[in-house]
Amino acid sequence: MCGIVGYVGAKDCSEVLVNALTKLEYRGYDSAGIAVFDDGEIRTVKTKGKLDDLRQKLKEVGKPSGHVGIGHTRWATHGEPSDINSHPHSGARVTIVHNGIIENYIELKEFLISKGRVFLSETDTEVVAQLLDYEYDGKPLETIDRVMAELKGSFALGIMFKDFPDRVFAVRRESPLIVGVAEGECFIASDVPAILQYTRDYYLLEHDEIATLTKDGVSFVDERLQPIEKELKTADWDMEAAEKGGYPHFMIKEIHEQPEAIRTTILPRIKDGLPCLDECGITLEELKEFKNITIVACGTAMHAGMVGKYVIEDLARVPVNVDIASEFRYRNPIVGRDDLVIIISQSGETADSLAALRLAKSKGATTLAIVNAKGSSIAREADMLIYTLAGPEIAVASTKAYITQLSVMYLFAFELALAKETLSVAECKRLISALQKMPDAVQYVIENCEEKCKYIATKLVSAESLLYIGRGLDYALSMEGSLKLKEVSYIHSESYAAGELKHGTISLINDEMPVISVATQTDVIPKTISNIVEVKSRGAEIILVCTDACARGLKDGIADYVVEIPHSEELLMPITAVVPLQILAYYTAINRGNDPDKPRNLAKSVTVE
Ligand code: M6R
Repeated sequence: MCGIVGYVGAKDCSEVLVNALTKLEYRGYDSAGIAVFDDGEIRTVKTKGKLDDLRQKLKEVGKPSGHVGIGHTRWATHGEPSDINSHPHSGARVTIVHNGIIENYIELKEFLISKGRVFLSETDTEVVAQLLDYEYDGKPLETIDRVMAELKGSFALGIMFKDFPDRVFAVRRESPLIVGVAEGECFIASDVPAILQYTRDYYLLEHDEIATLTKDGVSFVDERLQPIEKELKTADWDMEAAEKGGYPHFMIKEIHEQPEAIRTTILPRIKDGLPCLDECGITLEELKEFKNITIVACGTAMHAGMVGKYVIEDLARVPVNVDIASEFRYRNPIVGRDDLVIIISQSGETADSLAALRLAKSKGATTLAIVNAKGSSIAREADMLIYTLAGPEIAVASTKAYITQLSVMYLFAFELALAKETLSVAECKRLISALQKMPDAVQYVIENCEEKCKYIATKLVSAESLLYIGRGLDYALSMEGSLKLKEVSYIHSESYAAGELKHGTISLINDEMPVISVATQTDVIPKTISNIVEVKSRGAEIILVCTDACARGLKDGIADYVVEIPHSEELLMPITAVVPLQILAYYTAINRGNDPDKPRNLAKSVTVE
C-alpha cells in the first residue's frame, strides 16, 4: 500500500524523506518520489521502481535542497507503475502525495477538463492536485476543506501550497495518517516506523481533520475549520523493534519473536489462573447473552478465525461462522442484536474488514476487534477490543501477528466457555496453564525444527504445486501454512480437508506434487495416516508435521520427511504446529531467490478494496 511521509524542520529534507520512506517499504510499492521546497520553488523528483532507483535519480539530477517537503511510495491502483504516475502530483500551485482511492475521480476529472485543465498521469491523485489548484483562493485550510467535501472515497494526503513554503498540510479520511513531533520539527507518515528514527511522539489524525505543520509545531482543525486539541501519543516501540536486529529478513526475525509475542499477549489477560478480559471491555454477563458468533477477517487473520471457530465451538458450544470480509460486506449477512461479530486484523486498517465491522454495527450486532496496531480504525470503532501485543510486524507475510491472534482466540474461547458454563473453572485453569507453556513450546520448536525445515525446503524448491492436508484443527492450520508458502515462494498450493481428497482433488496427485500433511489431533490421526498412504501410493512425496507421539507410531516409509513437534494440549497444537510451516515457507522463498519480506504484488496493509 502507498506510504506517505512529510517533513518540516531544520534537517536536510530530501534525506529525511527518503530515510522515512525506507521504513515504509514493508507496505509494498512500485515507485517512489519526493517534493521539496528548494529556494522558494517546489522541486519534484520521482521514479518507477524502488527507493534505490529514487536515490540514483536524486544523484543524477541533484537532490532538492530545503527543509520542507513530502514523499511517497506508490502501490499502483489507477494507472501502471511509471515515472509519470508516481507521486507527488501537482497543479500549478499545489503538490500532493496521496494514499487511498478517490471513487469519483472520473466525474471530477471530466469537470476539470471542461475547465481547460490538462492531465499528465492516469492517477486519481492528480485529479485531487488539480482540484485543489482549481479551488485555491490563497487560503489553504478553506481550500482543502472545500475539496474534501467534493471527494468520495478514502484518502490520506500530504499537501504543499507554493505560496506557503514554510509548511505542510495533512488530511485524512479512512486511510491512516499520523503526525510526529519533536523539538523544532514535525513529520507526517502513514505509519509509526517511518518516524521512529526521529521521534516517538505523535498524533493520530482523525477523519476529516486537517493538520498544519511548521517547524514550530502542529495545529489541527476539524471539518468546520474549528481548532482542536489532540492527545499526544508516545510509541512504545523503539527503532530496534522496527529493525531487523541481525536477522537477514524481518520474516525470520518475526518468526523468532513469536515466543515473546505470545507471552506479552497472554500475560496481562490471566489473573489467578483464569482468563481476564475486563480491560478489553468484556464481561461474563455480556458474553453469556450471545447466541451466535461471526468471525470476519482477511487472509491470515481469517485463518486465525478458522482455528477460533473450532476452539469456540468445542469449548463454548456457540455456533461460529467464519467469513471473508470482502464477501461478508457485499452480502446481506444474517447478524443482529443477539450476535457477536469478531473482526480480526493485524493492521486494523484493512478496508474490507473495516467495512465489515461497520456493516455488522449497522445491523445491531456487538463487535469485538482483535487488532495489533494501536489506535487503528478497527480498534477505535469496535465496541470491544483486545489488542494482540505482537509489536510491529514489518514482513508482509504475517507470522507473529497470526500466533498472537490464535493466543487471543484461546483466551476468548476460555472466557466465553466460562460464561456459558460449558467449561468448569478447574478445567479452564488447566487449559490456561497449558497456554502459559506455549511460549516455551514455540521456542523449543524453533530451536529444534529450523534446521530440518531448512533442509526440507531445499526439496521443495522446484515444485510447481503443493497440497496441504489435515483434519479438524490441522486442516484449519494448513490453510495458513498454504497461504504462507504461496505468498513468499510463489509456488501454487492448496489446503485440503484430508477426508475430502478422494472427492476429486486426489486426481491431481502424482510424483510432482509434494504433500504436506499436518497430524496433531490424536482422534483423527489414523484417518489422516490413511489419507497419507493414499497420496503416497500415487507417487506424492510426503512431508509430515506431527507430534512426537504420532511420529513414534508411524510405520517406516509412510512419510519422506517428518518434522516432529512436542505433544502438548491438543486444542493448543496449532500454536506450535504453525511454526514449521512458517519456517518451511521462509526457506523455500530464500532457496528460490525471492525476498520474503516484500513478496511481489503484495502489500502489508490493504487499505483499498
Ligand atoms: O492487517 P490485516 O490482518 O487485516 O490483513 C489481512 C490480510 O491482508 C493479511 O493477513 C495477509 O493475508 C497477510 N499479510 C498474509 O501473510
